[in-house]
Amino acid sequence: MTKKSKKYRSAVRAAITGVHGYVPPDVLTNAELSRIVDTSNEWIVERTGIRERHILKGKGLGTSHMGAEAVRGLLKKTGTAPGDVDLLICATTTPDLVFPSTANLICDMADIRNIGSFDVQAACSGFVYALTIAAQFVESGTYRKVIVVGADKMSAIIDYTDRATCVLFGDGAGAVLIEPNRKYGIVDTLISSDGSGMKHLHQKAGGSRLPPTAETVAKRLHYVHQEGAAVYKFAIARMADVATELLRRNHLTKDTLDWLVPHQANMRIIEATAERIGLPPERVMVTIQKYGNTTAATIPLCLWDYEKKLKAGDRLLLAAFGGGFTWGGIYMTWAYDGGSRTEGKTGEGQRRRKGVGKALTARLAAMVKVPVALLAPWPASILRRAGS
Ligand code: ACO
Repeated sequence: MTKKSKKYRSAVRAAITGVHGYVPPDVLTNAELSRIVDTSNEWIVERTGIRERHILKGKGLGTSHMGAEAVRGLLKKTGTAPGDVDLLICATTTPDLVFPSTANLICDMADIRNIGSFDVQAACSGFVYALTIAAQFVESGTYRKVIVVGADKMSAIIDYTDRATCVLFGDGAGAVLIEPNRKYGIVDTLISSDGSGMKHLHQKAGGSRLPPTAETVAKRLHYVHQEGAAVYKFAIARMADVATELLRRNHLTKDTLDWLVPHQANMRIIEATAERIGLPPERVMVTIQKYGNTTAATIPLCLWDYEKKLKAGDRLLLAAFGGGFTWGGIYMTWAYDGGSRTEGKTGEGQRRRKGVGKALTARLAAMVKVPVALLAPWPASILRRAGS
């Protein structure tokens, strides 16, 4: 490191200077899920805190569609020209394709050309990992405008005959702009992993170990396999560990921290983490009731939802865990008054009103192994379009 860059590094932090999100217009409620699998609104709400989740439908639309919506909104909101972006990183577990990366596709869709772009895969910890990487580029003075996207179309890999997983997940995307800041920004980061946790949470087929075949499809190996109780135990411990470690390292207490921004996997895990650090519910960001677990998108979607309430100088603690196992956290100070920045939301603000496409009906019918005709009474109700 040169003298100049050393000086720059010590003076500059990587700060979030804008956030935007996107959730698709179609909403899948607990009541609708209870018509597909043996579950109930009461069970889902009591055990997870989730009431509904958004599902991306539309032929040929993948994770990049949601990521690009979030990025276009972010560029507009922050007055950033696509040509000014230096780097784009996308955290996702549900890339559109094995290659090219979803980050590549998002750049193309948002008219961002000739810059570095790549994906980060760390399951539900992906956004924390990607933000940690982005911070290095900004703090070192290498780049001045970096976009980090967290986006997942979990509905593409969820088995809608498995009641233990299909109630948990939703689709969505969030994007943040990272810029150098002399006053506020990322202070400390922590990322970690333990690959022996793979057996409890993974997708069995579709990668190089077990490429897709008629047999892997017939055996339903392309869906999320999760041993919920084992993951839950791990998640409770790791979320609390991350939060307490970052508080300790940065001499923070429950009185000096303004916000906990936890990964949204289960309301009970969120509450346990807040309790462990003594933070009251009003200082914990929660969106799980309306979005479910959107994997890499949960944390940026929280920031987007709570942006209006955030003030320059607020102290935020981000904490996440996920498949791998992976976990991580970030302590940062917020860089701007959110109230002055908020604009109309994409997605939620554009919810459509009626009718569910034939493709989704066919997919659900195939999953539950019934003729499409039998689902005829379902379509309008299976996916409620919010606002209807
Ligand atoms: N409706 C009704 N009953 C259900 C449902 C459902 N949707 N799902 C499971 N059950 C049943 C089970 O079959 C079981 O019945 P049994 O006792 O007759 O066998 C009973 O409920 C209890 O099952 P548990 O799995 O012990 O339920 P638990 O209270 O642990 O809740 C849950 C399950 C919500 C999945 C919980 O374990 C959890 O949140 N785990 C962590 C999930 C997570 O955080 N994943 C990581 C992120 S994902 C990623 O990284 C991609």
